[in-house]
Amino acid sequence: MNENQLNILFSNGILVDSSIKDINILDLDLLIKSLKGKNITFLDMDTFHKVYSGETADDSSVEIVKNYEGEISESKPVNWVNYFNDRFSRIKNILIMKDRSGLMSLSNIKNMPQSSDVKTIAMVSSVSVSPIKKYTILDIEDNTGTYKAIITNSNQEILEDQVITITGRKYNDAIFVKDIVLPDIQMKEKTKQEMDDAFILFISDIHIGSRLFVAEAFEKFIKWINGDILEYSNIAKLVKFIVLNGDLIDGIGVYPDQEKELGIKDLKGQYDKLYEYLDRIPKHIKILISQGNHDATHIAEPQPKLDRSFAGSLYNLKNGIFLSNPYQVNLTVSKTKINLLSYHGFSIPYYANKIPKYSKMDAEDIESIMKIMLKSRHLAPSHGSTQLMPLPMDYLVIDETPDIFATGHIHKTLASIYKGTVLINSSCWQHQTSYQKKYGMVPDVAKIPIVNLRDKSFQILDFLGDKVQIYKKGLKEV
Ligand SMILES: [Fe+2]
Ligand SMILES: [Fe+2]
Repeated sequence: MNENQLNILFSNGILVDSSIKDINILDLDLLIKSLKGKNITFLDMDTFHKVYSGETADDSSVEIVKNYEGEISESKPVNWVNYFNDRFSRIKNILIMKDRSGLMSLSNIKNMPQSSDVKTIAMVSSVSVSPIKKYTILDIEDNTGTYKAIITNSNQEILEDQVITITGRKYNDAIFVKDIVLPDIQMKEKTKQEMDDAFILFISDIHIGSRLFVAEAFEKFIKWINGDILEYSNIAKLVKFIVLNGDLIDGIGVYPDQEKELGIKDLKGQYDKLYEYLDRIPKHIKILISQGNHDATHIAEPQPKLDRSFAGSLYNLKNGIFLSNPYQVNLTVSKTKINLLSYHGFSIPYYANKIPKYSKMDAEDIESIMKIMLKSRHLAPSHGSTQLMPLPMDYLVIDETPDIFATGHIHKTLASIYKGTVLINSSCWQHQTSYQKKYGMVPDVAKIPIVNLRDKSFQILDFLGDKVQIYKKGLKEV
């Protein structure tokens, strides 16, 4: 704010707190009009951000739907049995809601005569292809036993541990499959149009502490969110939520020779540096904070919220909301509710390795893998696709269809839509590491996918260049 602007504010009867004298005001007339309209005569930082974001009262809220509170479970057989029973019964219930007619258990099917028409819900315990006839053979199981199902003419991708409804005919102690139904998500409606624009930003994989962290680009983002950069400042003003989806810091000892690429070599120091940035984000914006495989917590999922002994400084953020990985919340703005499912995405590379057509792990492949998760109603459908803790409840089951499904981890950016659910993968803030170079992985750096909660439209902004600009790659539909 320059001397002239201070004088104009003063002559309009508005006193200014010293805390905001360094702030760059882009539209002084608009600011004065807003202040006068609200009878505000003293401008401090909080008031400035409230007025700047077009509100005097906080009309946004976060309601937790699913969040892991940190209970512990040992890896022993009985716990795994209970874990898989919970997963099976919850996904089975989703399938029953779709179609409950004519369902029978595998033990019933075993006792039925040959050539009977049968229908069952089962978990796929293995998938193989017959060497001679190229049939797909599924070993399936439910709480009553095991059986085989033979697929002769389906292109459908069936993966281990998916829970599916199988319709077919019994021959020679196997079900010859006519139809397979995956639980899948429900079609989501567009959100209400009556509310004003309100934006949510998706940031992950900041990797603070790495020498490859793009400090300049992140600084540009911080300036932008404070309204100090003209480009797309109309969006910055109306941001209500920021999702920080894991790998907030680079951590220590996560990949071979990481030490050589670290600028800050202790976990606390890395989180403290992150706090310095996040503390500069306007306080009316709620920051949803969760962790990934580089953060200071156990790798097995679900991961509990950040550990205060390392990330204690972050807990000083008045606008920080600390959550597990994964989590599901309802975000409310002006009485419009948006369901958000956030998962760091550790299971994604498993499917890129397992399914050759997704091996490039580009935006389209990540989108396809995210669709597998939604269709399977599970964030890591195949056992082994991520490390798990066998809790009595499986936190990775997708019980409720989200409006937005957000992941990170891959260091690529993506914004797309599937059955009305917005799919987001949120880039990274770190140049290519030696590890990524070795595997030919080229990251998308400093891109921010943004969703308008009013109508679920989306775009991606690029903070890497000289100017903040729209990024087209990885964007499927606006
Ligand atoms: Fe990462
Ligand atoms: Fe990660």
